[in-house]
Amino acid sequence: MSRNQSTRRDFLKSSAATAAFTLAAGSTMTSPLRAADTGAVEKRRFGKTDMTVGVLGFGGAEIGFEGTDPQTVTKLLNAALDAGLNVVDTAECYADSEEKIGKAIAGRRKDFYLFTKCGHAVETPGQGEDWSKKGLLRSIERSLSRLNTDHVDLVHLHSCSLDELKKGECIEALEQAKKEGKTRYIGYSGDSQAARYAVECGRFDSLQTSLNICDQEPIELTLPLAVTKGMGVICKRPIANAVWRYETQPDNGYHVGYWKRLQDLKYDFASGDAAKKQDANGPAGIAMRFTAMQPAVSVLIVGTTKPERWKQNAELLSAGPLPKEVEASIRKRWKEVAKADWIGQT
Ligand SMILES: NC(=O)c1ccc[n+]([C@@H]2O[C@H](COP(=O)([O-])OP(=O)(O)OC[C@H]3O[C@@H](n4cnc5c(N)ncnc54)[C@H](OP(=O)(O)O)[C@@H]3O)[C@@H](O)[C@H]2O)c1
Repeated sequence: MSRNQSTRRDFLKSSAATAAFTLAAGSTMTSPLRAADTGAVEKRRFGKTDMTVGVLGFGGAEIGFEGTDPQTVTKLLNAALDAGLNVVDTAECYADSEEKIGKAIAGRRKDFYLFTKCGHAVETPGQGEDWSKKGLLRSIERSLSRLNTDHVDLVHLHSCSLDELKKGECIEALEQAKKEGKTRYIGYSGDSQAARYAVECGRFDSLQTSLNICDQEPIELTLPLAVTKGMGVICKRPIANAVWRYETQPDNGYHVGYWKRLQDLKYDFASGDAAKKQDANGPAGIAMRFTAMQPAVSVLIVGTTKPERWKQNAELLSAGPLPKEVEASIRKRWKEVAKADWIGQT
């Protein structure tokens, strides 16, 4: 196992506005509709915010944890922005992801919405999580400096526990950051009961949650309520880490959970020769189209280390929603097979 994988696993272990919003910092705020308006990707409203997002975003964890070299990141992100990307998601603890993004595309800040997360990277590395108001506000400042910007569009609490959420101090920190113009919107990134609480409490503009063919809990637990609350919904791990790629248990520990689930789910489209298909009816196409068609979903932040990937995936998604019977068979299989402990995976 590489050092990067181990860092990611350590993180996983430790994790448990409205349309009338007025722009606090005036001209420095962005309205990056240009790229998404080219028609390359379907556009969706992001809850009650003023954002219209392309359905395929970019997840910044892989470029950090997999140690992608900065030149490749620059090529990858600029090519994706040219092709219609307008949502870039990262976090304070994805190794050097924020710095790489800052160096690669800070000069095009008006072309995209920038989302980050806080709560894990503390001033002294190895100290663990810090959900105090002071710690979170400092974390956001560090993120702005690494991302080379004066504000982000959205900051998420990075998968803090239900207990931390209930204490409320961490939410107050984000509300203060919003008031100060460091972020335009605030969200919760996480899963299962903590995500449910975050949606119920009504204090967040968005929910970032795991949703894919191997992780379907949010479809009933959080999404219907998120719609009624007018929240933007970001799907993390939306392609289920493409675990059909592995004939045997993957070395990457982070991918093992979904790989094991897939062995039980045995979807036809992700088994045998069908798993090798590369078009919109192959496993990658079906997986992303399934995630994208769930109600309330605004954007899928697929992670990648490969410059050509974003455009490939945009093409797969352009096939649109799955036929109703295909979606229904994926839901049916999940309901038949999912065990009680198959809750949302961080
Ligand atoms: N707690 C949290 O807040 C949290 C937790 C997890 C993730 N996230 C966010 O969600 C983002 C996405 O999550 P993720 O990267 O873990 O999962 P993911 O997007 O489901 O999977 C990414 C993996 O799928 C591969 N892939 C992408 N497109 C493919 C295709 N068409 N065919 C085959 N393989 C393909 C990528 O490999 P290649 O490099 O070969 O493209 C990469 O290994 C993260 O980057 C992060 O921003 C947040």
